[in-house]
Amino acid sequence: MRDSLPSTIYLKDYRVPDFLIDKTELTIDLRDTGTRVQSTLTMRRNPDAGKPDSLLELHGENLEIVRLAIDGVELAATEYLLQGEMLTVVQPVPERFQFISEVIIQPQDNTSLMGLYKSRQMFCTQCEAEGFRKITFYLDRPDVMSEFTTTVIADRDAFPVLLSNGNLVASGEQDNGRHWVTWHDPFLKPSYLFAMVAGNLKFLEDCFTTMSGRQVVLRIFVEEKDLDKCGFAMAALKKSMRWDEEAFGREYDLDIFMIVAVDDFNAGAMENKGLNIFNSSAVLAKQEITTDASFQNIQAIVAHEYFHNWSGNRVTCRDWFQLSLKEGFTVYRDAEFSADMGSRTVKRVQHVNLLRTLQFAEDGGPMAHPVQPASYMEIANFYTLTVYEKGSEVVRLFHTLLGPELFRQGTDLYFTRHDGQAVTIEDFVAAMSEVSGRNFDQFMNWYRQAGTPRVDVSGDYDAEKQTFTLKFVQSCPPTPECQHKQPYLIPVKMGLLGTGGEMPLSTGDRTGPAEIVIELVENEQEVVFNGVTEQPVPSLFRGFSAPIKWRYPYSRDDLLFLMSNDSDGFNRWEACNQLSLDIIKQMIDARVAGQSLALDDRLTKAFRALLLDKSLDKAMVALMLALPAEAYLSEEMDVIHVQEIHDVRREIRVQLATELKAELLRCVEDNQLLEPYQPEPAQIAQRSLRNIALAYLSLLDDECLTDRIYRQAIAGDNMTDVHSALVSLANSPVDRSRLLAEDALASFYQRWKEEPLAVNLWFQIQAGAMVNGGLEKVQALLQHEAFDIRNPNKVRSLIGSFCSINAVNFHRKDGAGYRFLAEKVIELNSLNPQIAARQLTPLTRWRKYPPELAELMKAELTRITARPDLSPDVYEVASKSLAD
Ligand code: TRP
Ligand code: ZN
Repeated sequence: MRDSLPSTIYLKDYRVPDFLIDKTELTIDLRDTGTRVQSTLTMRRNPDAGKPDSLLELHGENLEIVRLAIDGVELAATEYLLQGEMLTVVQPVPERFQFISEVIIQPQDNTSLMGLYKSRQMFCTQCEAEGFRKITFYLDRPDVMSEFTTTVIADRDAFPVLLSNGNLVASGEQDNGRHWVTWHDPFLKPSYLFAMVAGNLKFLEDCFTTMSGRQVVLRIFVEEKDLDKCGFAMAALKKSMRWDEEAFGREYDLDIFMIVAVDDFNAGAMENKGLNIFNSSAVLAKQEITTDASFQNIQAIVAHEYFHNWSGNRVTCRDWFQLSLKEGFTVYRDAEFSADMGSRTVKRVQHVNLLRTLQFAEDGGPMAHPVQPASYMEIANFYTLTVYEKGSEVVRLFHTLLGPELFRQGTDLYFTRHDGQAVTIEDFVAAMSEVSGRNFDQFMNWYRQAGTPRVDVSGDYDAEKQTFTLKFVQSCPPTPECQHKQPYLIPVKMGLLGTGGEMPLSTGDRTGPAEIVIELVENEQEVVFNGVTEQPVPSLFRGFSAPIKWRYPYSRDDLLFLMSNDSDGFNRWEACNQLSLDIIKQMIDARVAGQSLALDDRLTKAFRALLLDKSLDKAMVALMLALPAEAYLSEEMDVIHVQEIHDVRREIRVQLATELKAELLRCVEDNQLLEPYQPEPAQIAQRSLRNIALAYLSLLDDECLTDRIYRQAIAGDNMTDVHSALVSLANSPVDRSRLLAEDALASFYQRWKEEPLAVNLWFQIQAGAMVNGGLEKVQALLQHEAFDIRNPNKVRSLIGSFCSINAVNFHRKDGAGYRFLAEKVIELNSLNPQIAARQLTPLTRWRKYPPELAELMKAELTRITARPDLSPDVYEVASKSLAD
């Protein structure tokens, strides 16, 4: 907690460490209260620091000192100083020495879930970014890499399994029923990759033979009751290991790879060397309690953490400003993996939706920051959509600009050149530059400027000269760190369509293929296409070839044309998306102005055609039929009129359901699955199409249909169907449906109350129900036996879902939703600052709401910042969102 304002850390102030730690030996003696951590650090002065006289300073937080010694000589209390999170040894230390410390910590009381803590009966750790300093005194920064040997001692009956990074090298029994295990990790690593687990765990075991023929043991550790939910993650792990060999030439390097599932976890999972620790929601799965979306998410997260072994662990970050070096790159890698495991286009659409909805909102808000931030107060606040998702888009830009072969040469060079090092984003770019011979100076704007660039495109057809001229104008709105932006290097993957399909493209003196990549580098740029025999419709930014907002003055008929004729699958979806968006936005604007506008029947016709065309990919049809979500519409509006957005979207859905009832019913019948459940792409596509059709139908007041949905909610044999039916009923405008929802939710709880992951869904469905009295419902659920504010998954399911999904209730005109969130943030602030700061996000967007709401939101933020006991995490978010 804070006694002075948290200070700001700047990238430009980076200095190499004054000391290095060659070896780290830890002994962790776990107790119910008072865990003892003994550490022996083999240290020396860093020759590159050029500071032969600097004092020894080590990070440490909440450590009770038992003993400190240098080269065996105990330090007297006058020989060191403990200030804030820093220990300073006030007398000079030799060139090389051993630093020994013995401290006592209280993991059983640690609610921050950083450092060493208890999750249910288990001890576990989370050290990224700065949690290791809560375990022992250390140079807790990623550019200090060390060889770790860890001994864990604990009661044998309560904690039969003791794990740490690397290989098990020794173990033994003590008296009093205690035992110990020693692990050694041969790879140098920074402290943030350290992990330790102790618990009464069982494991699922498998093995993997690497491309060079080495055998690796794979184990997933869980509580005994969860052993039946590990198979899917194990299969995903093996696929990931093979894929990284094939796609990136990366082989696993230890004899064992372990995953541990824990219920209390701040994030999704953590890539600790050889010992990944997972939020149980990101690893445990079985059809009865796991939705298709969750199966796919688990596969992606297992892959993500595994891929970090190279992009993050073998090659790590020099400092936390380089976070996207490992996160952006690894998200790119896991997205490519997911694309290869299923449908590339479907994966791309899902990713782009996420980026446009959440990352664009972040980039347009008060916490906007570059992919490589220049400063921060609390690094935990910078594990953002910008660093992860925009960061991955920027890596994708290299792939688009260089093509697959050069891109692969670039990653190969990066991995071999920097193996065992802590490096920067500039090092990654240098590798790409070297293999391609290209200069990427301008490209660095993607890393150093915040904000979403915008490209306005216009087209001019000259029938006489048979030329088509595209004019591109780029701009980027100001963001907190920068008013005037330099132009970006923006690749435009594109084609031109005519009545006969794709046109060959000739620009200048070359006639090329039907698809090209144009590179924009200026604020304004023109491209002239020759030999164009008719007015074309351009298909622009295919596959979302850059993370930008773009506009072209398409007519609605142009968009309908692209929807069925574009050769690029992503852009067929994009045309549908732009058409829906255009129609809905116009209707919302009319509603806000007190007018009403009929639904353009071209949308109904287009959707009918989608439902009738059996040749289309079902997953894509489902994605096209899903109208843009409220959150996405909000991001697209200059001023967010919550109720109007909700009402108009709802009315359009009701009208579509009414007019397309026959086709929707047909679609439900045709997509009934008779085979046993499999979380595989073809089935997932079919379920998603059937369930979206049912969701439309649930809006109609039709008893027979409602009963059918109710039966699916009660008796579906998989959570995808059950969940979707429950969401439909709980959000229905029909009273009877909502009563049935109550009933189905009650039996759901009775059936699954012993399964925390199912209970999370149960909270989420109720928190998201956009019906009257939503806030009171959530407040009542806070008192429910299954709710626990110390468990981040529960907080996210109930409080998080309510404030981010249930807009009409969160943005109540009396401000009760805002007050509710502020209260919860204040309560969480002292328990778990990281979670508190994250939950605050919806309030930070106050500038986009009408003045009455904005004032109420601002008042709650002001109330929060006035509190004397704020964590740096909450202080940074709240104060930056109020700054002008
Ligand atoms: N490195 C993790 C990942 O992306 C992220 C992470 C795990 C994390 N635990 C955390 C970030 C705790 C902040 C705090 O895979
Ligand atoms: Zn990651």
